[in-house]
Amino acid sequence: MTIMRPALFATIAAIVLQSSVHAFDLVREYQGDTFFDDWDFYGFWDNLTNGDVEYLNRQDSFSNELVSTTSSGSAIMRVDNFTNVPSNYKRNSIRITSTHYYDTGSLWVFDIKHLPYGCSVWPSIWTHGDNWPNGGEIDIIEGINLNARNQVAVHTLGGCTHQNGTNELGWAGGADCSTPSGCTVQDPDTRSYGAPFAAAGGGVWAAQYDVAGIFIWFFTRNNMPISLNAKDKSTLDIGEWGPPLAAYPSSSCEMAKYFTPQQLVIDITLCGDWAGVPSLYNATCKNTGPTGICYTDNVIGPGAGKYDNAYFEINAIRAYTTGAPAPTSTSTSASSSSTSTGSSPSTPTGDGGGGDSSNVPPPDGSALGGQAGYPALAALPVAFVAGIVALVI
Ligand SMILES: *[C@@H]1O[C@H](CO)[C@@H](O)[C@H](O)[C@H]1NC(C)=O
Ligand SMILES: *[C@@H]1O[C@H](CO)[C@@H](O)[C@H](O)[C@H]1NC(C)=O
Ligand SMILES: *[C@@H]1O[C@H](CO)[C@@H](O)[C@H](O)[C@H]1NC(C)=O
Ligand SMILES: *[C@@H]1O[C@H](CO)[C@@H](O)[C@H](O)[C@H]1NC(C)=O
Repeated sequence: MTIMRPALFATIAAIVLQSSVHAFDLVREYQGDTFFDDWDFYGFWDNLTNGDVEYLNRQDSFSNELVSTTSSGSAIMRVDNFTNVPSNYKRNSIRITSTHYYDTGSLWVFDIKHLPYGCSVWPSIWTHGDNWPNGGEIDIIEGINLNARNQVAVHTLGGCTHQNGTNELGWAGGADCSTPSGCTVQDPDTRSYGAPFAAAGGGVWAAQYDVAGIFIWFFTRNNMPISLNAKDKSTLDIGEWGPPLAAYPSSSCEMAKYFTPQQLVIDITLCGDWAGVPSLYNATCKNTGPTGICYTDNVIGPGAGKYDNAYFEINAIRAYTTGAPAPTSTSTSASSSSTSTGSSPSTPTGDGGGGDSSNVPPPDGSALGGQAGYPALAALPVAFVAGIVALVI
């Protein structure tokens, strides 16, 4: 802990005084015609998960219309469903990575209308730090084939674990986040993936990357908290959200040890190390083709029909941070402590300073900025908080 004691005290006092605020400030919005501006396109075949796709570069993604924006302001990313792929070849798809990095204290909101699905299809929206797996990985949205649910996961070096009985709504899988599948949490709600997700008008995920841990919420379209539906998107109050779908508290996975500033990734691969595993493929796609093999029954051939649902339609992605003082704060100590990392309040620390050409991770110094969220406060020992309150009063 390199932060000076007075700053720590001021910050915690500020949290206690604004315990009903839980406010985040908008850092960046990916939406409409400019949605694709701040992303790098992979431009290479899937050499990471052995999927049967060629991820196109930016120019080819646009000219082949694998990516586009709609008149209603949403962004589309799809698997090629119009090319007749010969045997032994891969199918075109997309994989994009945000040029910006996001530090602890960040909260990302993903407002999505349609997720890619279908036999062989494996989409994901996730984040990772540099030098994988050292910098950690957070899988927020991920599904395969005709599976009914979204699966959240965290991937780290050995030592980070996720426990059953955490205050979360989802179903926990294995505890060890360093195993190949990571420490997973399944969404009990079948409207979290596939055709039912689309039929429900989609939904919204929010992922908080905080010194107190990683917390992910999912809301179906007709069950959104008031704050997410607010017209003004410049701030966000997460105080009324209730328990998350998945919680990875730092008590069993210390954030500073297993995570570095994260980049967002959106991709769709086909078959490969998860969707293409024969037993997993068979679980929902057995007998959907003549061979029973993921690649031969899907990837090769015309693509029309098979990949018509293999697309993302994203209304918006918004990145928020706790780095700037909350506008409704009644405490002057809040601003002095939360900007103690050297950023000005108008350029919150969540992305390393807000410079649009910035492509380097910021120094990991904004840790305390991240403690204003609901789980963060809940995670503070009661006696400690009580002590601070007594001290302040
Ligand atoms: C995958 O391909 C990219 C682009 O050529 C390369 O930079 C990267 O090192 C490769 N990764 C692996 C794991 O082979
Ligand atoms: C959580 O409980 C489920 C169901 O009992 C079990 O399958 C799973 O392995 C447990 N996970 C952890 C992290 O203990
Ligand atoms: C999957 O199903 C196919 C038939 O569709 C069968 O040939 C194959 O053995 C099955 N594989 C596994 C691992 O269940
Ligand atoms: C590809 O899928 C879209 C729907 O996502 C559909 O409108 C289009 O007609 C399909 N293309 C072909 C060639 O079938």
